[in-house]
Amino acid sequence: MIRKIVENVYNVGAVDWDRRLFDELIPLPQGTSYNAYIIFGSEKTALIDTAEPYKWEELKKNIEELGVEKIDYIISNHAEQDHSGCLPFMLEMFPEAKIVTNEKCKQFEMDLLHIPEERFMVIKEGDVLSLGDKTLEFIMTPWVHWPETMTTYLQEDKIMFTCDFFGSHVATSHAFAKDYDRIYHEAKRYYAEIMMPFRKFIESNIKKIEEKEIKMIAPSHGPVYDEPKYIINAYKEWIDDKPKNITLIAFVSMHDSTRKMVDYLVDVLSDKKIDVRARNLITTDLGEIAMDLVDAASIIIATPTVLAGPHPAVLATAYLANALRPKVRFAAIIGSYGWGGRTVDILKATMGNLKIELLEPLLIKGLPEGEDYKALDKLAEKIKEKHDSIGL
Ligand code: FEO
Repeated sequence: MIRKIVENVYNVGAVDWDRRLFDELIPLPQGTSYNAYIIFGSEKTALIDTAEPYKWEELKKNIEELGVEKIDYIISNHAEQDHSGCLPFMLEMFPEAKIVTNEKCKQFEMDLLHIPEERFMVIKEGDVLSLGDKTLEFIMTPWVHWPETMTTYLQEDKIMFTCDFFGSHVATSHAFAKDYDRIYHEAKRYYAEIMMPFRKFIESNIKKIEEKEIKMIAPSHGPVYDEPKYIINAYKEWIDDKPKNITLIAFVSMHDSTRKMVDYLVDVLSDKKIDVRARNLITTDLGEIAMDLVDAASIIIATPTVLAGPHPAVLATAYLANALRPKVRFAAIIGSYGWGGRTVDILKATMGNLKIELLEPLLIKGLPEGEDYKALDKLAEKIKEKHDSIGL
């Protein structure tokens, strides 16, 4: 499938309607795409990014069907293999082509793909590359989400090719985001899963690209934004330091004791007009939890004690939350135990990166009863107070 973006610019990348897991970790309910953009200048032809190696046949077929006879430059915005993986095949198909990228990205690609150094043309911040009547300008946008990530700006058509930045894991036949009604959700999921830890870099990278006039944002996953303000403003909302009046309760229950505590808290927190998201970690996909973490002001980790510690699914989620570094301000650990363990200590140690205020933990023996519910009331009241204290 070839999708025209503007005159002489085409998306020849691959669409994977079936893929359901990325990095063997991240659920992809809507599949994904690996966009690769052909730009025909009056003198030279460039390709921006490639695809996962298992999609080489599809990328090759699209390039052939478009009638591309020569590629002079392959711009590589990011070294991760879902965009760089077909570079070795491309170099074989177009022996004259040079990979155009920054020094860091070159080093990555030499290590990851064993591409010889002489196949690279190294560019740096602000460099331009003429294709004749079209000009590419390179803007370094590091840490979205690797250290070498960069953006390529097509000056004449005012298109920003941002690779992962502003991407979404969506398989779609549409060229443009406005034709896909779930784009906000899927772009947020993508942001939550890989971009969230880099909020400060995103802020400075947005400022940098906004110095240019932008008519389109063309990421290398998901459709193209021909209303760029839509996705830029969404990102600005997600990176904003102030959380929303939301409590995420991430829980597992083995014998319903922890579940009863969760159900009770959902009721009392809702009565206090807090938006509660209770997510059973056994049945909820990690992407949904990551999305809750984009906005939540507080998180309650609710776990049974098993093998003298938190349930492993709870531990994995606490680890992920710690790595994603969300803007969440307050946390509490609650749950039930049969005979003892180190649940609280283990979870505290796992979430050491989070700049959170940890509220008094509440672990009860067996099924909750009278006094336990009073303690849950107190916890709910404390959460409400804390949310109020930051103006929610
Ligand atoms: Fe889509 Fe960081 O690769």
